[in-house]
Amino acid sequence: MEYQEIFTEILKKMDDYKDSGSPASYIPELRDVDPSKFGVHLITNTNENYSIGDSEEKFSIQSISKVLSLVMAYKLEDEDLWKRVGVEPSGTPFNSLVQLEYDQGIPRNPFINAGALVVCDVLVEHLENPKEEFLNFVRSLSGNSALEYCSRIAESEKSTGYRNASLINLMKDLGNIRNDIDTVLDFYFNLCSIEMTCSELARTFLFLASYGKDPITNEKFLSSSKSKRINAVMQLCGFYDEAGEFSFKVGLPGKSGVGGGIVAILPNQYSIAVWSPRLNKKGNSSKGMKFLELFTSETESSIF
Ligand code: DON
Repeated sequence: MEYQEIFTEILKKMDDYKDSGSPASYIPELRDVDPSKFGVHLITNTNENYSIGDSEEKFSIQSISKVLSLVMAYKLEDEDLWKRVGVEPSGTPFNSLVQLEYDQGIPRNPFINAGALVVCDVLVEHLENPKEEFLNFVRSLSGNSALEYCSRIAESEKSTGYRNASLINLMKDLGNIRNDIDTVLDFYFNLCSIEMTCSELARTFLFLASYGKDPITNEKFLSSSKSKRINAVMQLCGFYDEAGEFSFKVGLPGKSGVGGGIVAILPNQYSIAVWSPRLNKKGNSSKGMKFLELFTSETESSIF
């Protein structure tokens, strides 16, 4: 497939695309990112690589990390994990408090903030050095030992993270958080702060396009049955109250972050990462979504 030419054609088509959103502002350090940045990287299961734009520039992957922490927690807890967090689309914003009380402290899915906090609690319980071990896990998935947390962004989010503090306090009260709240929150803010380029991000998620096994190194990270389920949760919950829209328009399992990144995979074929910091009202990259919509339509490569 001539992905490179298709990228160029799509960007030409998007020349007059009006991107009216703005970068996330509730995390002070994300406010200052150049909103005009735009990058894409696609890696195939046979290690062919295609990119366009600012694909080698680091950005904050934010909620995209939640997939990787979920993978780690699922390996540790197996099906017991689902006693504390559901797998249903939330239909509510990623940081909603209302639904959590209604659901008696059991978050609807692991990608809304409440669910990701429970996953962090699980990791804090199992791991001796959660921050270090999680980072090492992400490094092993990516094949890149230089990946790092960004303490500037983690601290920035901590300074304004009142809503996440509310979510975790509510869950502590309702009996679904077992560890010290500050320890879990600190871990959560750090994992959201990981920085990657589009090429690093696409590479990191490639194992999910290949039933849990890195198709390049043949390293098995996750069973095929668990990999299938992670992809199912991405398909249904990866874009919060816009998950239906992303399925409808793009048709791939994927995950977004408020840093403007989106990663999506097509089983047996490829992993693709897009970055554009302007977010729509649901907190997802608007130009990134549009690009992926045109890309899967043009290449006829959605899972549907
Ligand atoms: O907790 C937060 O609000 C952020 N660290 C992550 C939110 C996020 O990326 C939502 N995704 N679109």
